[in-house]
Amino acid sequence: MSYHIRTKEDYDKNYLHSVERKNQFWEEIAKEFTWFQPWKKLMDCNMREAKFNWFQGAKTNISFNCIDRHLNSIGDQTAIIFEPNLPSEKAIHISYNELHQKVCKMANLLIDMGIGKGDRVALYLPMIPELAVSVLACARIGAIHSVIFAGFSSGALAARINDASCKMVITADGSFRGNKTIDLKGIVDEALLECPCVESVLVAERTMTQVRMKNNRDFFLAPLLEKASTNHEAVKMDAEDPLFILYTSGSTGKPKGMVHSTAGYMVYTAYTFNNVFAYEKNDIYWCTADIGWITGHSYIVYGPLLNGATTIMFEGVPSYPNPGRFWEIVEKFKVNQFYTAPTAIRSLAKESIDYVNKYDLSSLKVIGTVGEPINEEAWQWYHKNIGKEKCPIVDTWWQTETGGILISPLPHISPQIPTFATNPLPGIEPVLMDENGLELNENNTVGKLCIKEPWPSIARTIWGDHKRYIETYFSAFPGYYFTGDGAKRNDNGMYRITGRVDDVIIVSGHNLGTAPIEDAINEHPNVAESAIVGFPHDIKGNALYGFVTLKEGAEKAVQLESEINALISEKIGPIAKLDRIQFTSGLPKTRSGKIMRRILRKIAEGDFSNFGDISTLLNPEVVEEIKNGKK
Ligand code: WT7
Repeated sequence: MSYHIRTKEDYDKNYLHSVERKNQFWEEIAKEFTWFQPWKKLMDCNMREAKFNWFQGAKTNISFNCIDRHLNSIGDQTAIIFEPNLPSEKAIHISYNELHQKVCKMANLLIDMGIGKGDRVALYLPMIPELAVSVLACARIGAIHSVIFAGFSSGALAARINDASCKMVITADGSFRGNKTIDLKGIVDEALLECPCVESVLVAERTMTQVRMKNNRDFFLAPLLEKASTNHEAVKMDAEDPLFILYTSGSTGKPKGMVHSTAGYMVYTAYTFNNVFAYEKNDIYWCTADIGWITGHSYIVYGPLLNGATTIMFEGVPSYPNPGRFWEIVEKFKVNQFYTAPTAIRSLAKESIDYVNKYDLSSLKVIGTVGEPINEEAWQWYHKNIGKEKCPIVDTWWQTETGGILISPLPHISPQIPTFATNPLPGIEPVLMDENGLELNENNTVGKLCIKEPWPSIARTIWGDHKRYIETYFSAFPGYYFTGDGAKRNDNGMYRITGRVDDVIIVSGHNLGTAPIEDAINEHPNVAESAIVGFPHDIKGNALYGFVTLKEGAEKAVQLESEINALISEKIGPIAKLDRIQFTSGLPKTRSGKIMRRILRKIAEGDFSNFGDISTLLNPEVVEEIKNGKK
């Protein structure tokens, strides 16, 4: 790829170029792709109104660029390696040619089932090849995919299906995760009781468990695919046509359907994949994330395939059948780039080092992390034991909203400073803001992290709610994109992300809003009110601490804690369960009735030192009670 940055001078030159001649910079990168029609204007954006237009007037198709574009040169090369949950089950290697056939068949099937450009299709699938194929088939026909992580409960699934009025759901009979089998189809059936918009359900068979099939609505996927044709011409998409919706949590109970569009997302994910992982031809790349999250969209499917890479899809979990599973896979496929989350690193670092040392990891060239700040200890363990002190670590900072990596070291170019995401990629201009909305220009400073200029893969809107999009990201600092994160810039201008500054808590790398969890708890008939805060946790990074006030006269029965967690599991999913629950007679509130989370956060962290002035609270006496009852 001609856009590969190889040296520090290269980076400096590209960065300067990207800032001074933005249009020219992106045009040169975009030339690598196939366009059915060229753009008339490179971009036209307005940060205040959150209007983003990139490659205006151009027509392309990202699925075509991921697959068809490579068929002449590398058609026989493996595109996707599927590694099943159980190590004894055989891996599947899918070449670019085979992927093309599978995606064309699926595209034709979708069309047959009445799905067309602009229709929304919900994908609720395990990490099996059908998931990647469905994503690419939707993109190929211009249907908007909404991948919903297959660990979400039926209620959370229904809310997401309805929010985007999905016409179809693609799911599986069940999924394997470690030693568990999850009844995905049963969860879908329950969700669909509340989803009149869904006309059809396609069911992949993975666990071969008995499922209920509703007449004229539910169809097994395999026999239909068998009959479908392998000829399909990719739909010519406008540059700004929506590509997908992906939900993320926010500070209200309603999940935000972040909308990404076609051309800008394509150019940016391809560019960043290539540079951040220093991907070279024939490398084997593995990102351990699930395609249910943005990491999987951008850096398992789109980014790697756009670069003609070989990308591994892993169905299982890090600890099954034993904590050596990741390293076994690295050895098995001679993985060159390995990308995972700090929470996985921390949990594996707790295990015997024999699980690592048993395997040959010498194929590794670059190792990466994403999802939350990585602590120094985990960074050092990763560096020493996995990277053997020779592989650069790329600590990649980005968000569902940003579409791709914005701040990250580049291998062998950026300095290796533990816990620092270091430098912005070309085209990205981070700034730190003070409380008054002024840019902090000096180094060695901390502030709220904003991005100054638009970049191609910025989310275009929140599905159905552009006003909320503007309010959430473009109002706190007008003219800037506000990330919701705090950051530090050191003496050399390198960035370290310190964490969220809003009501979002990152647990095991998953972005959880406090509001939906509180809503779930408050549905318990005995609960009057609740507040969730995060507290530091060895493995998860943060864990959830719930302060719960019961209704007058309600009994603090022993099973209440498990009932509350069961409710959370049911409404959101097990990932949002609370580690600690404390019952209190009230929550500290301001005179205007706002819960003072700052105080609760300190108590949950075990820091009783300085609560600031609590005399202005409506109910200062409750603070003492909560302190004494801390779990
Ligand atoms: C939030 C976004 C981006 C894919 C996975 C998460 C935190 C992400 C880092 C990092 C420190 C990080 C931020 C961000 N985060 N990567 N390298 N260092 N924090 O996507 O669920 O949209 O969450 O994850 O707080 O805002 P997401």
